[in-house]
Amino acid sequence: MDDHIRFDHTDFALHLLDQRLLPGQEATVVCRSTDDIVHAIQNMTVRGAPAIGVAAAWGCVLALHALGAQQADELEEHLERIACARPTAVNLRWAVERMRAVRRKMPPNGHAALMEAFVQEARAIQAEDVLACKTLGRHGAACLKDGDCVLTHCNAGALATAGYGTALGVIRAAVEEGKRIRVIADETRPLFQGARLTAWELHKDGIPVSVACDNACALLMSRGLVQVALVGADRIAANGDTANKIGTLGVALLARHFGIPFYVAAPLSTIDISLPDGSAIPIEERPADEVTCPDGRRVCPAGVPAYNPAFDVTPADCISGIITERGVLRPPYTASVRAALEEAAPKEEAPKEERARA
Ligand code: MRU
Repeated sequence: MDDHIRFDHTDFALHLLDQRLLPGQEATVVCRSTDDIVHAIQNMTVRGAPAIGVAAAWGCVLALHALGAQQADELEEHLERIACARPTAVNLRWAVERMRAVRRKMPPNGHAALMEAFVQEARAIQAEDVLACKTLGRHGAACLKDGDCVLTHCNAGALATAGYGTALGVIRAAVEEGKRIRVIADETRPLFQGARLTAWELHKDGIPVSVACDNACALLMSRGLVQVALVGADRIAANGDTANKIGTLGVALLARHFGIPFYVAAPLSTIDISLPDGSAIPIEERPADEVTCPDGRRVCPAGVPAYNPAFDVTPADCISGIITERGVLRPPYTASVRAALEEAAPKEEAPKEERARA
């Protein structure tokens, strides 16, 4: 699936599959402005770190279009609003920074040329994400053996990316290689991304999937029913500490307790090299009623407050490998993460004299 984030050039609008309604209903939300895109990211019409990065890039295109040549001075304020729509996934700011870099390279007052360059960059970000997922999927498939049962948390699938998925991309690639893989999808409270989205995607693809309550993880692992735990990521610090959906830390600690390998799958765009470790990763707090009133039905007494942190941070020493489009990074992550980023960085052409000397 790769049409859940679709830019329509004829009416200059971004069409988003409304992930809040899945699996019951397949409906589309149409975004035409900065407000629309910020709202869609915040209310989780579109969600998942790489997917909100792609939506943000198209959001920059919509902002430029809506502002027009006359109000181009206001563009920066719109880009910043998009970058801040949700705090934890670094892909959002990463994508906006790429659009800013395009703007810096363009001559001032060239509205039409900037618009064309913005569209091209957003398209590139979207296409690169699918490619990164397919490539990391192939690298990660080697971590899964024929007959394995893989436990995953939240949804790190096609829906959470531009297509194919990160954790689910690894599973898809292993299945494409002919391995028989079964999946346990943690339901992932309070918004049920595992039960609603991961189960929907895998079931559609014919990959055997069962759903389990989040709190069944320990029992399932203790009975030997899980061979590998595999999740996505929202932000990875320079030392490998990884923020992902709330509950991931519990899965990682249990995996360590039971001697089960725990892998993170993410494109390099999810790495935030500016943070030495996970302690500075901002953790989004979402409204309490997502916990107290799931689907509008109150499950605890009125007036009782609730905690609703949307993410937690798994320390690097719980992670067996970080699966990226540059291969499976292994501890110590400070070295392997840096090396992967350096290898991926576009090489500056050496000045003429140096080239002549070489
Ligand atoms: O709050 P969400 O649904 O956006 O959280 C998503 C996750 O935590 C995913 O696991 C993560 O973004 C990786 S998606 C490839």
